[in-house]
Amino acid sequence: MSMSKLGSLLVVAAAAVSLSMPALAQSQGKVVSESDLAKWDISIGPDGVGLPAGSGTSAKGATVWSEQCSACHGENGKGGPAGDLVGGVGSLKSPEHIKTVGSFWPYSTTVFDYVRRAMPYNAPGSLSDDEVYAIVAYLLNRNKIIADDAVMNAESLPKVKMPNADGFISYWPLTKQ
Ligand code: HEC
Repeated sequence: MSMSKLGSLLVVAAAAVSLSMPALAQSQGKVVSESDLAKWDISIGPDGVGLPAGSGTSAKGATVWSEQCSACHGENGKGGPAGDLVGGVGSLKSPEHIKTVGSFWPYSTTVFDYVRRAMPYNAPGSLSDDEVYAIVAYLLNRNKIIADDAVMNAESLPKVKMPNADGFISYWPLTKQ
């Protein structure tokens, strides 16, 4: 086949592909709706921006805990197969350090983010916002960071200072702490 014939065949082929693209997009694509996007727009940073409405206490969290978390993380947050979430505060400098939500995590707000998106491990995303607030209150209370009757919500949670809040340094020299 001559080069010019091959060239015109390729042009025809390219035209056929570009003509069929809109049809393909229509048959297989789908416009993303606001409500579809909302399910993925759930990130909460250290400052707590994005925390939803709702609230919870440690007492309510204890019920959710024993039904949905204790099998893997133990009664009272210790001794389960998936690791302790309670205890070890002040242990990080020792060789026997224990990393938990209480001893290691720098922000209370990101505990909310993590639990809401990732736990329970077997059914992530299944907890209501009230249940997540209650669970976070439970974990903070069992780690002796908040009082028994403290109510956690979008206003109070970002004010909770974690024991290891100052234990991290930025690996990016230009980022202010
Ligand atoms: C079926 C077992 C299972 C259940 C049930 C479960 N978890 Fe987990 N959890 C895990 C595993 C496994 C990890 C470690 C995941 C990883 O590192 O990717 C984990 C990690 C975590 C962490 C992060 C620990 C850390 O310091 O890195 C938190 C917080 C947590 N789970 C909270 C909960 C809460 C709250 C519930 C109940 C609502 C729950 N989990 C239920 C298995 C479970």
